[in-house]
Amino acid sequence: MNKKIALIKGDGIGPEIVESAVRVLDRIAEKYNHKFTYVDAPMGGNAIDVFGEPLPQSSIDTCLKSDAVLLGAVGGHKWDNLSGKMRPEAGLLGIRKALKVYANLRPAKLYPQLKERSPLKNEISEKGFDILIVRELTGGIYFGERGIRSGSLGREAYDTECYSEIEIERIARVAFEMAEKRNKKVTSIDKANVLESSRLWRKIVHDIAQDYPNIFVEDMLVDNAAMQLAKNPGQFDVILTSNMFGDILSDLASALTGSIGLLPSSSLGDSTLGLYEPIHGSAPDLPRNVANPIGTILSAAMMLSDSFNMPQEAKDIQDAVEKTLNNNYRTADIYMDGYIKCSTKEITDKIIEFI
Ligand code: IPM
Ligand code: MN
Repeated sequence: MNKKIALIKGDGIGPEIVESAVRVLDRIAEKYNHKFTYVDAPMGGNAIDVFGEPLPQSSIDTCLKSDAVLLGAVGGHKWDNLSGKMRPEAGLLGIRKALKVYANLRPAKLYPQLKERSPLKNEISEKGFDILIVRELTGGIYFGERGIRSGSLGREAYDTECYSEIEIERIARVAFEMAEKRNKKVTSIDKANVLESSRLWRKIVHDIAQDYPNIFVEDMLVDNAAMQLAKNPGQFDVILTSNMFGDILSDLASALTGSIGLLPSSSLGDSTLGLYEPIHGSAPDLPRNVANPIGTILSAAMMLSDSFNMPQEAKDIQDAVEKTLNNNYRTADIYMDGYIKCSTKEITDKIIEFI
C-alpha cells in the first residue's frame, strides 16, 4: 500500500523521536512491501520562529492532504512567555481541532519487564494493569469561552467547561466500541457532584449505554478515580472522560507504567485521517539522543492499525518493543542496574532488528 504521512516533528526531543518512528516505519515498509512517503508540517516553537505563528495554514493543508499525521512534541522555554494564542501548545490544539480528531485513545499497560520501575508497591504491580483511556479531545475547557475581565474583586480570568450532547455521545460510543473489543467495562469519570457539564455527561453516557447491553458501565468521580488509579489500577478497563480530566489522569497512569516516555496515543474523528503522538511533552532540558522513543514508535504502530488497517504490521512493532525490553535494553528513563543502557538511536536500532 502507498501512504502519505505528514510529520510534525516539533521542538525539543520531538525531531529525534519522530526520526526513530520513521526509521521503524521504513523497516515495516521494507518487510511488507508498502510505500510510505513523508512530508513535513512545521508546528510549535520552530514554526513561530519561521512563520511567526505556531500552526501555519500551510501545515494544516499538508496534514489534511495526508493519510495520517505523526507528531513528536512541541514547546520549550524560549516560547514560554508568549500570549496564549501564540504559544506552541496553541498549535497542538489547533491541529487537533482542524483534523476534528475528537477521540484520543491512550493505552496504558504495565509491561511485566518494567514492574520494578513502577512506583507501585509489589503487591499491586504484580497484578498488572491494562487500561485504555478514551479522552475527549476537541471540546471542554480547552476550547470553551475564555478571557480576562474586570470583576467585583478586580481583574479576573476565566475558562469555561462546556459539552454538547453530541460531543458526549460520540466520545461515549468510541469508549463502548473499544470496550466491546476488550474486557467489556467502561468507567466514565466526571465531577457530577459539582459540575453541570458533568451531570449532562453522566446522563448521556447512561443513555448511550442502553445500546451496549453487554458492557458493564460505572461512574466515578475524578478525585476518587485518581485515588483508585494509584491504589488499584487493575480494576480499570476502558476509562471514558473529558479533555482535561483525561489529560491529568493519563499522566498519572503513565507514571504507574514506569515512564511517561512509553505511552502512545491515537486521535481519530469520523474519518481514517488520524493524529498519532506520544502523550509526553518536548522535554526541552533533555540532552540529545537520550529520550525514550518508544511512545512515538508505538504511536506509529497505532497509526498502522487505526488509520491504515494494517494490524499485523502494528503487532510486529509492538512485539519488537517487547523483545527489546525482554533483552534488557533500556533508555535512561527506564534504566536500572544490570541492564543495558541505550541512547535514542541505539534502542531504535534494537527495535528495528527485532522486526
Ligand atoms: C497532552 C499535552 C497537551 C494537552 C498540552 C501540551 C497542550 O499535555 O497531549 O497530554 O494538554 O493536551
Ligand atoms: Mn498531557
